[in-house]
Formats: sequence, C-alpha cells, structure tokens
Amino acid sequence: MSRATAVAHPNIALIKYWGKRNLALNLPAVSSLSMTLAPWRTRTTVEWGAEHDSLLLNGDAVHGPKAQRVWSFLDRIDPHRPAVRVESDNDFPTGAGLASSASGFAALTLAATRAAGKELNLKELSALARQGSGSASRSLWGGFVHWSRGLLEDGSDSHGAPIPGVERLDPVMIVAVVDEGPKDVGSTAGMQRSAQNSPLYQAFIDDSEACIRVARSAIERADLPALGEVMERSTFAMHGVMHASTPPLIYWKPATVAAIHTVFELRKQGIGAWVTMDAGPQVKVLCARPDADRVESALSTVVPRTMRLQPGGPASVEP
Ligand code: DP6
Repeated sequence: MSRATAVAHPNIALIKYWGKRNLALNLPAVSSLSMTLAPWRTRTTVEWGAEHDSLLLNGDAVHGPKAQRVWSFLDRIDPHRPAVRVESDNDFPTGAGLASSASGFAALTLAATRAAGKELNLKELSALARQGSGSASRSLWGGFVHWSRGLLEDGSDSHGAPIPGVERLDPVMIVAVVDEGPKDVGSTAGMQRSAQNSPLYQAFIDDSEACIRVARSAIERADLPALGEVMERSTFAMHGVMHASTPPLIYWKPATVAAIHTVFELRKQGIGAWVTMDAGPQVKVLCARPDADRVESALSTVVPRTMRLQPGGPASVEP
C-alpha cells in the first residue's frame, strides 16, 4: 500500500465553461478563465492498495453514482489498479455551486497519481483532472488560469495554464450565500440540456474566445473594471443559455436577483464591483480589496451570509 495527501483550492470562472465537445474525454466546447480562491480548500488522502474501494467525504461514506464517478476516474490513472481508499474533506459547503468538484478532483488527481507512483507534469495532471471534472483542470495553479478548449481529438492540448498578474490587481471575491441546499440539476446534466436545445448556445460559444482575449488583456493592463465587465458579459451569456433551455435552467432565487441589483446600485455610487454566478443561486462579487467592506455590508442587507475570498495558491502534495 502506498499513500499520499494533497490539497487544492476551488476556483471561480471569470470567463465561463458551459458545454462539451467530447463527453467521454470531457473536452469543453469553449476555453475558460478562472481565479483560484483561498482560503477554502479540499484536502484528500489516497491509499493505493486497500481491501476494497471506499470513499469518505467530510467523514461520511459515499456510495452510488457519486462514488462511481471517483472509481471511474481512478481507472483512467490505471485500468489495472488495486482497490483504493479515498478520504476527502472540504472546509466549505459542498454542492451548492461553490465549485467543490474543482478542488475535489484537483486534489484527488495529485494525491492519486502520487500514491500510484506516477510522475506527471502539471499540464498532464491538469488534462487528467479535467476528465474528473472540467473546472478541476484550472485548480492546479494559483491566481488566474486559462483552460484552453484545445483542438486535438485526444484532448491532450485541453489543459490549464497560469496567467501572471493577480498580485497587481489584488482582487477579492465576495460570496453572497443565497441558499446552501443542493442544486436540482448538476453542471454536467445542465450543459447537456443546453447543448441539445438552447437556441442561445451557439451564440455563447461564438463569443467565448473574444471574452478570453478581452479578459487576458485586462489582466495584462491590471484593469479591474475591464475584467469585471467581461466577466459579467460571459456570466449573463451563460445564464441566458441556461434560461433559454427546455425545461429552463434557472438557478437563481429571489435573493440572487436582489444581490445582482445591489451590486448594480453600488456601481451607480462609483464603487467598482461586478457579479458572477455559476450553476447555483450564489452571487460572487469581484472588487478591489479597499472596497470589500463596503460591498460586503451592502450585500449583507439582502442575503443571509457573505464570505470573503482572495486569490489562492497552487495545489500541492503534502510532504
Ligand atoms: C457553471 O466543471 O462542474 O461552474 O466538467 O461536467 O464536471 P463537469 O462540469 P463542472 O462545470 C462548471 C460549470 C460552471 C462554469 C465554470 O466553472 O467554468
């Protein structure tokens, strides 16, 4: 038996991933761009060689499709693998659109490959993590990360790569927690529905590379308003796709809309703050560190709880 432990932070997409060009290899229809978030983290220990496969998530045994997703992922690392014991803990709410599959599969990728005695470089690790959950491919690095859609059929060029510049921007991300319950439709199923029948899906895909270019240039110039603006363009394009799906995918709750308007109101008052949402009701707000108190107190009038996150570092194996 060999054992390894790894830690990874979640990430939030500023330019969104929604849709796949290859389901089996989990290849995205679009490139995306994210910011890694601290202090939240997943810590995962893998024992390669156990009596039987077992998965413990936040202290509870997991069975069924959720566990099967992990076993199939480990089969990709080694189709002849032994039984494996996985123990994983999140220090943040799991499954409410707060990106737990990103940090989860990033930490699992690092811990499992290390425990299996495989030496992979970061790009190979990212391409592997992608096959567990797309957004996990972005959690290997800290700061800003660009996950390329890639062109190759085998997906080997669809992995993350770091973008320098997070220190100069010094952004924070405030999470307005609207509802911590599990979501009705997970990202994987939601994307499939949008690809099958949303009339806005192709328009979202057609705009995505332009959004990436605008975001990269904003980061290069340390221009937070330009980055915030293109983040909102990508966010509302993705939610437009979701809303126009049949049946509609509306992850928003009344307090989601209230939080969005609170941010728009702050902007009218001259505060630089911009919203994003994923496949869940939470609103995440990007702003400069000096404005964070003002943004957080405005949001706390419309949602039960807020949390402040900042750029996080890379995933790592514990010694
Ligand atoms: C809305 O990475 O959870 O958060 O690859 O099917 O596991 P799978 O999907 P996942 O989707 C994330 C979708 C999103 C946008 C994003 O993070 O880019």
